[in-house]
Amino acid sequence: MLLEVSGLNLWYGEKQVLRGVNLYVNKGEVLCLVGESGSGKTSILYSIVGLLPEGARLEGSIRFLGRELLGLSEKEYRKLRGRHISLVFQEPSVYLDPLFKVGSQVEEAYRAHYRGGMAKDIAIQALKKAGIQDAERIYNSYPHHLSGGLKQRVCIAIATVCNPELVLADEPTTALDVSLQSRILKLFRDMKGEGRSVLLVTHDFGVVAEVADRVMVLKDGQVVEEGYTTDIFDNPRHPYTQELLRAI
Ligand SMILES: Nc1ncnc2c1ncn2[C@@H]1O[C@H](COP(=O)(O)OP(=O)(O)OP(=O)(O)O)[C@@H](O)[C@H]1O
Ligand SMILES: [Mg+2]
Repeated sequence: MLLEVSGLNLWYGEKQVLRGVNLYVNKGEVLCLVGESGSGKTSILYSIVGLLPEGARLEGSIRFLGRELLGLSEKEYRKLRGRHISLVFQEPSVYLDPLFKVGSQVEEAYRAHYRGGMAKDIAIQALKKAGIQDAERIYNSYPHHLSGGLKQRVCIAIATVCNPELVLADEPTTALDVSLQSRILKLFRDMKGEGRSVLLVTHDFGVVAEVADRVMVLKDGQVVEEGYTTDIFDNPRHPYTQELLRAI
């Protein structure tokens, strides 16, 4: 098992936002996490990569390749993030640095973990794999020259440039049109073929149908339904799942 989260409880101040969350991700698998706004999806991803805000209190266990992540130092998390587990943020504009060209930001993500001799070629490859055709031009652009959809793909390139075992992706296709969305979903499916895994947050059961091996439905910080994608589509039990399925 690649990732195993158990008994996760999270509080922001007095407010409890995750309640006994259990989940696992196998090697070579895509798990989709769905749930209404505020149900705690992003909080789960932040818990896994150690990016919770000041004042958050987390309890439970998060094991990655058998190793407990809860309680790691920031230095240890930095070795892990990008190289072994990466996160595609829900809001790409916040993540990209306006002062640096896109290419140097992708390269930097690579150089954080590897020697940089081939960094430029590798960065351009990562941009292409993320569905950016004119990667050379985009490489030399500043983030504010790019559309929301392009920024999103740049963030996917940054998250995948080191070929991590696990990519956490927070609504990574919302700003993309259908054909680009398929392209990114194909990238995720290709990762499975290489034995790597994706934990994907989405509202869209169309996306679930295209990539997910398994689905988990979250409501008010609790897992209310989980199962294999085909089973959930055939026999959704929770009303919220039924509602989401009616929307497609
Ligand atoms: N930094 C924070 N401080 C206090 N409360 C927070 C913070 N971040 C999130 N919350 C609260 O925690 C709960 C879960 O938020 P979270 O962002 O994980 O939900 P989400 O499922 O990702 O929602 P969305 O679909 O809108 O992105 C919400 O009630 C939210 O208001
Ligand atoms: Mg969110």
